[in-house]
Amino acid sequence: FTKLSEIELPAAFDAHVHLRDGEMSQLVTPTIRKGGVNQVYVMPNLVPPITTVKQCLEYRHRLQDIEPNVSYHMSLYLHESITPEVIREAKKAGITGVKSYPAGVTTNSSSGVLDYELFYPVFEEMEKQNMILNLHGEVPSTPTNAPLSSTKDSTAITILNAEPAFLPTFKSLHKRFPNLRIILEHCSTAAALDAVRACGPTVAGTITAHHLSLIIDDWAGDPFCFCKPVAKTPEDRDALLQAVVRSEGRFFLGTDSAPHDRGKKRGEDKVAAGVFTQPYAVGYVLDALEKGMQRGVVNESEVSQEGLEGFFGGWGRKFYDIKDERKERIVLRKWKERVVDVLEKDGVGVSVVPFRKGEQTWSVEW
Ligand code: NCD
Ligand code: DOR
Ligand code: ZN
Ligand code: ZN
Repeated sequence: FTKLSEIELPAAFDAHVHLRDGEMSQLVTPTIRKGGVNQVYVMPNLVPPITTVKQCLEYRHRLQDIEPNVSYHMSLYLHESITPEVIREAKKAGITGVKSYPAGVTTNSSSGVLDYELFYPVFEEMEKQNMILNLHGEVPSTPTNAPLSSTKDSTAITILNAEPAFLPTFKSLHKRFPNLRIILEHCSTAAALDAVRACGPTVAGTITAHHLSLIIDDWAGDPFCFCKPVAKTPEDRDALLQAVVRSEGRFFLGTDSAPHDRGKKRGEDKVAAGVFTQPYAVGYVLDALEKGMQRGVVNESEVSQEGLEGFFGGWGRKFYDIKDERKERIVLRKWKERVVDVLEKDGVGVSVVPFRKGEQTWSVEW
């Protein structure tokens, strides 16, 4: 693999994207294909979040108008107003799944879930309708001014243990709804990978491109590497790389590409969480795998054509039960592409700094 300078693959399925709305969507949606992707699963955390079938279908139309040569699979935002009735309506309308955000954990999650049990009737209906539950697998941090006594019996939650602390909830959801297809999104720890492996075949995990290369030190001080869940230890990163090549269908690409205007990344306000990877999605993963091989955590022999085809599309499409409608192929060429310093567009008032700006990555030809 390290000697290859050209790879041909089926165009990828990115099972977790943030395309936003309005001007930001005008800027980022046209970059999906540039990254080697022609099919996406779209996150619903707009402002306000997508909680009705009508909103969701209208949003899909707006995205199709921007870039018709991509298939958009859609999700609703888990919220009080989502009832079993809404789930039945969503299924009929061709909506694929429901994303749950714990309240207050990340971008636009203020209307997220406080207590999963309240949604058991919704999950039951989703199980019946064969819809997918996408979990943002973190619990909220303990307030920084909480008295020590409130954390005496349990460890205080920070962004470093927020994902492991969620895993009991994840496991109990699978146990209670064994036939419900559940995806633990953007796995960022070895513990999360193990939790997915311990579940039955109705459960899978997505892995982002950036968590395959980042560790804590990278985002401490660099807002363009800051996302939720935060990148963790080198051991966690290497476990993620190994999960890519040893996935056996349990793990596949979901970039969680999350654009924010550059002004929201530097300035007077708090830094918005999200790493923008869409225009170079497949290339970033190949770069990370190569670095993993250089460090000796991934063996050359473990990287196969079949494995790459699975991670980039085959396994995700299989889990989602969606066809590779377009049957397009891409050719990737090593280090033939330079990551732009900033993505901008005439007439669009926002601009986004991509991951690893200015560095070389793989080019994509259709
Ligand atoms: C913005 C963000 O999170 O920085 N959201 C977005 O890009 N969709 C603004 C916001 O928080 O509403
Ligand atoms: O870093 C993140 N950004 N994590 C998320 O879960 C949401 C996303 C966003 O929407 O910006
Ligand atoms: Zn998420
Ligand atoms: Zn996300």
